[in-house]
Amino acid sequence: MEKKIALVTGATSGIGEAIARRLAQEHHTVVLTGRNAKRLQAMERDMAKRGQRVVAIEGDLTREQEARKVVAEALRTFGAVDVLVHSAGVFRVTRLEDSSTEEFRSVMDTNLTSLFFLSRALLPHFTKQGGGHIVAVSSVAARKGFPGETAYCASKWGLMGFLAALREEVRERGIRVTALLPGPTATHAWEPLRGKAALPLDKMMSAEMVAEAALAAIDQPAIACVEEIVIAPTRDPFEGRAKD
Ligand SMILES: NC(=O)c1ccc[n+]([C@@H]2O[C@H](COP(=O)([O-])OP(=O)(O)OC[C@H]3O[C@@H](n4cnc5c(N)ncnc54)[C@H](OP(=O)(O)O)[C@@H]3O)[C@@H](O)[C@H]2O)c1
Repeated sequence: MEKKIALVTGATSGIGEAIARRLAQEHHTVVLTGRNAKRLQAMERDMAKRGQRVVAIEGDLTREQEARKVVAEALRTFGAVDVLVHSAGVFRVTRLEDSSTEEFRSVMDTNLTSLFFLSRALLPHFTKQGGGHIVAVSSVAARKGFPGETAYCASKWGLMGFLAALREEVRERGIRVTALLPGPTATHAWEPLRGKAALPLDKMMSAEMVAEAALAAIDQPAIACVEEIVIAPTRDPFEGRAKD
């Protein structure tokens, strides 16, 4: 399999971390990014100790300048980026009447606008090198509405529209766009809901299971584009219980 240089957002935790670690295990070069500098440094140290080719770059991707800086530093460090894995995201469950404009904007900025910033910064490079791959972590909440998730569902449905249009815009340049739609996965994303109700984390998928699906898309030969992957627990972890 061809070795790639992958820029992974949301790499400090959960699905992004699992994808970054799996890519590095497969001897791909990995650029880790997130806001948590301590966590980034610890992961960089740990992965470098295992002989993996890795660099960590801090950045808040809701800020265009920082998103552009992350892409520029990744390109400066390794001379190329072949794959962008976008896993940075926030999950919020708030009834519409209780939600604030700030919270709505923050969910949209983190889950959707950040990918607009990153893609715009990266596309000239992908175009010049004659190919590239964007793998964005969407959600089953891009297909179904869930109560309390107006902002989250809007961000993920919006993300699907963005990805579908971008895929058609760039396919003739050899650039692939994949939407990965996981169902409930046991990560820190569920932390804000802890205490509100007993969370069936043991019935959810692991981040590593979702990472395998991402790797399967990334590993396809350049001629094949995996457009969407939906991966969800076989049995609904919330069957018969309310989430909030
Ligand atoms: N867990 C699930 O059940 C599930 C299901 C479907 C889809 N997803 C999606 O999967 C993706 C990853 O979520 P997860 O479950 O792995 O959650 P997680 O463990 O909470 O990880 C979220 C990641 O996003 C990063 N992040 C958040 N805000 C950021 C910002 N402003 N700038 C840069 N990075 C930011 C965090 O890094 P820092 O804190 O270091 O910034 C962290 O690495 C999200 O898009 C989520 O919507 C999750």
